[in-house]
Amino acid sequence: MRRLILPLIFTATLCAAQAPVSTIAPTLVPTPPMGWNSWNHFAGKVTQKDVMDAADALVSSGMRDAGYVYVNIDDTWEGQRDATGMLRANDKFPDMKALGDAIHARGLKFGIYSSPGPRTCANFAASYGYEQKDADLYASWGVDYLKYDLCSFRTLMQAGAADHPTDPDYANQMMIDSYAKMRRALDKTGRPIVLSLCQYGVDDVWKWGASVGGNLWRTTGDIRDSYDSMAKIGFGQPGLAPYAGPGHWNDPDMLEVGNGHMTADEYRTHMSLWAILAAPLLAGNDLSKMTPETESILMNKAVIAVDQDPLGKQGDRVKQDGDLEVWSKPLSGSAVAVGVFNRSKSDASMTLKLSDVSMASASKITDLWTGKPVTAKDGQITATVPMHGVLMLRIEP
Ligand code: GAL
Repeated sequence: MRRLILPLIFTATLCAAQAPVSTIAPTLVPTPPMGWNSWNHFAGKVTQKDVMDAADALVSSGMRDAGYVYVNIDDTWEGQRDATGMLRANDKFPDMKALGDAIHARGLKFGIYSSPGPRTCANFAASYGYEQKDADLYASWGVDYLKYDLCSFRTLMQAGAADHPTDPDYANQMMIDSYAKMRRALDKTGRPIVLSLCQYGVDDVWKWGASVGGNLWRTTGDIRDSYDSMAKIGFGQPGLAPYAGPGHWNDPDMLEVGNGHMTADEYRTHMSLWAILAAPLLAGNDLSKMTPETESILMNKAVIAVDQDPLGKQGDRVKQDGDLEVWSKPLSGSAVAVGVFNRSKSDASMTLKLSDVSMASASKITDLWTGKPVTAKDGQITATVPMHGVLMLRIEP
């Protein structure tokens, strides 16, 4: 764990370095968090009604029962601080406590958003200098999850670096300390609150995110609803698997499934890849207007089970041949999930050898998108995988 900068004497720094930042954090999210977030579809327009509609749709669609329980408001809910420094929500959110209560009454959990800097990315009030006040406010509203987005804290980091020209680590250490500070403030409320670090992978966050009590951390910049954006992010995750595990997950950003600018095959690739990556599954579409196809992709129980497998191991790429890639994820019971991905612009015949995924033999192989059994011949499976599509398998030993 990196040294925590404290404005105290050296011995105090040593003590702080030895004590874990949080004993609560490791007990949260034993499997990757699942839910919905307002940003990808509603962005700055989101209102309290949109969030309530999303909560209702999570229940009526069956998504809650499939595991999607967090209802997360992203940026643009924030209003002004009063004379005591207490933050109010803006006019789009007339009653946050009532919203939290309504979300909980539906068997769901409530998530919110802020920044360690003075302003959020959309230039609304954020938590710099008000960390404990904000944490207490969230707890009073019943918040269960905080996405903490670097945003304007970068300006403070630049100033810090300029003031400490001989210390190349100074700015990154400020950032690390700012996340630890919010984790301590959240824990002090006594409410178990998931902390999502959003800083786009700066300073290899996967190497220190868990040590500051982060439960998940974004590994990349923002996803967009296009195959190129999704593929660049999703297929760009090799090597990060060792850093994920129960309580702390790599986050390649939220889902775009159902937002309308990818084909069904592309969305199935998105969902399959995120499941193999043990990624948080935060739907980012308008849940009140889902097509049956979108529902079938988001609620494929077998694919969700890959993501949520209790072993808690992230998968990785095991083979690459140009645009054709094989990824696999170890599952409990010595089973393995496999994604055979065709990133090319035409359909391709692809062959998977069981030995590619370190399986000597298979007692049962299932195609997770059709639900049908698959037979290996001479230790291999050959199938036509559509352009930008995937063959996703579960292989039992
Ligand atoms: C970005 C973040 C997005 C969204 C947005 C809100 O920095 O990566 O996921 O939260 O800010 O302004």
